[in-house]
Amino acid sequence: MIALITGASSGIGEATARRIAREPGAQLILVARRADRLAALAAELGGDPLVLAEDLTDPGAGERIAAAVRERHGRLDLLVNNAGAGWRGAFGDVGTANLRRTLELNLFAQAQLTEALLPLLRESAPSAIVNVASTAGRVARARTGSYSASKFALIGWTDALHAEEKPHGVHVGMVLPGFIATEGFPATELREKALTRWIVSKPERVAEAIYEVGPGGRAERYVPRPYALAAAARILAPSLVRRVLGGGAAANLTTSTGAESGAD
Ligand SMILES: NC(=O)c1ccc[n+]([C@@H]2O[C@H](COP(=O)([O-])OP(=O)(O)OC[C@H]3O[C@@H](n4cnc5c(N)ncnc54)[C@H](OP(=O)(O)O)[C@@H]3O)[C@@H](O)[C@H]2O)c1
Repeated sequence: MIALITGASSGIGEATARRIAREPGAQLILVARRADRLAALAAELGGDPLVLAEDLTDPGAGERIAAAVRERHGRLDLLVNNAGAGWRGAFGDVGTANLRRTLELNLFAQAQLTEALLPLLRESAPSAIVNVASTAGRVARARTGSYSASKFALIGWTDALHAEEKPHGVHVGMVLPGFIATEGFPATELREKALTRWIVSKPERVAEAIYEVGPGGRAERYVPRPYALAAAARILAPSLVRRVLGGGAAANLTTSTGAESGAD
């Protein structure tokens, strides 16, 4: 299996690279901006992974990556669109600039890379794409509007792509993590309190879900699974969800959500 993982320099992407590397015959392509981190991971994993240090928001990144993959392997079995970040703030404070910046990375960068690799994925069919969305793409909270908008959009695009690519033999699925402790999303406050510690999960569990959705052919997976209930409640009882997220316990969650990476 030839597998390309974006955001492989930390967190969920790194865990996914480790997970896929365990499969017999797996050959990895590791993508992120920090070349040193990718090189260290490649050396540790062995098997001579292709390391591509790219800023995925660069307009030429998709084509450069596609050319490199075609040259080295001539095929691609799995694309994991995982790189992403969030910059918190109320819309009244951070405005359209923050929205644009977030969508640029969490939506357009994924789309650009997918567009460039789609011909190779079709030629390599049966193949798969896994988009790493978020439960924040089903339920939005205060101060994470840009992040949620990007993930809501990613989910809609993913569903459409699934229907479009099925006849071409390219399975498209997604993973929706909840709170996962990573470098970019440390969930520090939640992990510090005994009352909330249990809701924070690990990147390795998301990596396993990515494997189930990609090579395993599943449509989507929440991590941890019970987060699916929040998504269902948002559809079935929107007033209730808004009331719950509008204060009380939610005030705690909004200070420690999965949308705090980027530090600014
Ligand atoms: N952790 C959570 O609670 C959580 C919850 C729901 C969804 N997610 C999603 O999971 C995905 C991975 O996040 P994570 O938690 O693993 O965070 P992370 O540890 O901060 O990892 C983010 C990865 O994205 C890469 N990246 C960021 N900007 C990039 C750019 N412009 N070009 C190329 N690569 C870029 C980073 O590498 P470089 O800095 O080296 O470029 C890094 O490898 C994201 O899509 C995130 O939205 C996370």
